[in-house]
Amino acid sequence: MAKKLYITDTILRDAHQSQAATRMKLEDMLPACEVLDDIGYWSLECWGGATFDACMRFLNEDPWERLRTLKKAMPKTKLQMLLRGQNLLGYKHYADDVVDMFVKKSIENGIDVVRVFDALNDIRNMDRAMKAIKAYGGICEAALSYTVSPVHNEEYFVDMAARLEEAGADVICIKDMANLLLPYDAFSLVKALKAKVSIPIHLHTHNTAGIGDMTNLMAAMAGVDIVDCALSPMANGTAQPATESLVATLAPTERDTGLDLQKMSVAAAHFRKVAAKMKADGILDPKVLNVDPNTLLYQVPGGMLSNLLSQLKQAGAEDKLYDVLAEVPRVREDFGYPPLVTPTSQIVGTQAVMNILVGERYKMVPKESKGLLRGEYGALPAPVNEEVRRKCIGDDEVITCRPADLIEPELEKYKAEAKASGLAKSIEDVLSIAMFPQVAPKFLEARNNPKKEDEVRTIWVQDLGV
Ligand code: CO
Repeated sequence: MAKKLYITDTILRDAHQSQAATRMKLEDMLPACEVLDDIGYWSLECWGGATFDACMRFLNEDPWERLRTLKKAMPKTKLQMLLRGQNLLGYKHYADDVVDMFVKKSIENGIDVVRVFDALNDIRNMDRAMKAIKAYGGICEAALSYTVSPVHNEEYFVDMAARLEEAGADVICIKDMANLLLPYDAFSLVKALKAKVSIPIHLHTHNTAGIGDMTNLMAAMAGVDIVDCALSPMANGTAQPATESLVATLAPTERDTGLDLQKMSVAAAHFRKVAAKMKADGILDPKVLNVDPNTLLYQVPGGMLSNLLSQLKQAGAEDKLYDVLAEVPRVREDFGYPPLVTPTSQIVGTQAVMNILVGERYKMVPKESKGLLRGEYGALPAPVNEEVRRKCIGDDEVITCRPADLIEPELEKYKAEAKASGLAKSIEDVLSIAMFPQVAPKFLEARNNPKKEDEVRTIWVQDLGV
């Protein structure tokens, strides 16, 4: 049964988020949009994740305007975004009415496919977003946050996929953010998922540990429906494996993607220039292109490894790195084996650093660790170490309900605050402020008063004598 493999290209989102701190500008995307739209991808991932924050914080771009512009420039291809369940694109749980409005506006402004995930794989944190995606006409792609632990076996993920299908998912994504999914395990997992669920399976991995291409190939041989790749100029290392390599590999097989390598080469020529500029500006550190098998050894994502190292450097304790790396799995076990992805990777990593630096385990406990143990982030995958929990939070109540059930509707409050600030010109602006209350007001102020900026620019130009 010949069946073509579909491809999602991540060049406009995860590739530059993973390699270049999410700094690709809209102006660097637009010249390639016509050819990208012509290639015939299943979808182009271009929004969500860290792009929303980076647009306002670093690039002086309105994320909503970026989305509308991309939609106009690529009318034929489905546009895809990444959404962190009840957290949306921010770092806390939002009330259901904010989730509904955010999803509605994302779809209205141009998103077709929403990939939704939760760091703990607690489906209750994904459920409202999934319902909203369906209600507003989007394609709901629900993700399994892939990790390895005594509870995270094949059966766990197959069971979760079945529950997501039942909850209304149109597509299941295996989200392997740390490149922990080994090629033969991918083969077996895809086979098991295909046997259990009837909706398409979409694989997302990275090439951090150098196994991404093999994982994608084995998944293709097992019958996966869609695979994420990135065009070669920003592929590999911490980003996705290269699109062209997989397309060429499969061309003579029954999984032929049917995609045109000539067109890809035109798009790649453009992004090579963009990548070269980012390297010259120091935004893209060539180190991210290296293969790092330590990821497999310690089962921590590449980004977490560099975070741990920088925390230890600040404390003048770089020599403690291997002690901390040994402590990470112990903390993870104590905390009920959360997958290591934002925000749990930071919580577990910071706790491990403190346990080692203080010299007594759980003597210093940040409020995020306490929140996790109180159930505020959702249900942990396995039972926690009760002795550790008592030491960290004493007799505090532990939440077992869906965390967002404790949040009153808050959209009207956000609207009123935005109105009082005089900065919001639309409901999209209100949502920007709700997501990033420290960053959005500054951005909106500058956007709403472009003259001021022009004056500043004129002064600079004069000063430089240009
Ligand atoms: Co990713």
